[in-house]
Amino acid sequence: MKHIVSGIQPTGSLNIGTYLGSIRNFVKLQESYPEHHFFLFIADLHAITVPRDRIALRKTIKELAALYLACGLKREKLSLFVQSEIPAHSQMAYLLQCFTYMGELERMTQYKEKSQRQVAGVASSLFTYPVLMAGDILLYDAEYVPVGEDQKQHLELTRDIAMRVNKRVGEFFTVPKPLIPKVGARIMSLIEPDKKMSKSDDYIKSRILLLDDEVIIRKRIMSAVTDSDQTIRFDKSEKPGISNLMTIYGAITNTSIETIEKQFETTSYQDFKKAVADVVVAELKPIQERYQAIIASDDLDRFLDEGSAYAARIAAKKVAKLNHKLGLGRKR
Ligand code: AMP
Ligand code: TRP
Repeated sequence: MKHIVSGIQPTGSLNIGTYLGSIRNFVKLQESYPEHHFFLFIADLHAITVPRDRIALRKTIKELAALYLACGLKREKLSLFVQSEIPAHSQMAYLLQCFTYMGELERMTQYKEKSQRQVAGVASSLFTYPVLMAGDILLYDAEYVPVGEDQKQHLELTRDIAMRVNKRVGEFFTVPKPLIPKVGARIMSLIEPDKKMSKSDDYIKSRILLLDDEVIIRKRIMSAVTDSDQTIRFDKSEKPGISNLMTIYGAITNTSIETIEKQFETTSYQDFKKAVADVVVAELKPIQERYQAIIASDDLDRFLDEGSAYAARIAAKKVAKLNHKLGLGRKR
């Protein structure tokens, strides 16, 4: 069976950037790839590469799991699980570190950015993070990996590592391909539209959370930073704010940028923002309702247990096989 693998870190609360760039794409992919089995997980091991409060982390893991399902993922052919519950993820990361060069990791843009923000010292796991990610993917021989634009470099490294291992031990890993959505691949901050909308941004007004209520959503969109030009035209460098709102509108309504430009040719920024707020509210309402039902039932834990058990079997076998191929242990 062919596999699709992806993960999201349980950090902060989910915002529409992660939703449009990632989770919603998973929902669509389940329709486009009905024969593939999906392994979607909560990347909690990745989250602790920087210090986290344990109470908040535990809460977010559960919330994220509920949100995955609330966003409309179908349960057939889906293993949803928490990464740290499967030891093979850490084990594979170590094995792959033996196939990854320092220079490759030093080039990772996300590492360069994130390490600068760590005042109390940079954990070595932040440096080796892309290798853990490569393991997440290669353990399941993923054919495709749906991610946002910002993860492209990590995917390229994963492919290089896979090919290197294959060269050493013979065909062993499937070399994965990234699936990056064209529209909505990068949703920007509402306040500083030249920066990505991020769960970790200190500025709460920069984002819309999936669980924000309608009043807040409208307020955030109405106060989004734009320019003084007043024409609704897509221009990322000159008009990043309005372009970002157009991207959000287009991603939710499946409308092309050209169509949006025509449709809102004579509309004021104020009215366009209202239109954006309307579609965001309409998109999020049913998700929020389903979320409340899911988080309140034990069914979620049962589903995560099943997902974990299924994935763990596959993952453990892959690690055992690679150990053997590398000459580790006593088994001949
Ligand atoms: P993270 O929330 O950083 O763990 O990212 C989870 C997934 O969502 C990754 O595939 C990211 O590329 C994607 N993602 C995160 N933030 C955004 C954003 N502002 N716009 C589009 N995609 C995003
Ligand atoms: N590093 C990814 C992010 O921050 C999350 C992630 C971890 C991931 N492991 C993965 C995504 C494996 C895809 C496949 O967004």
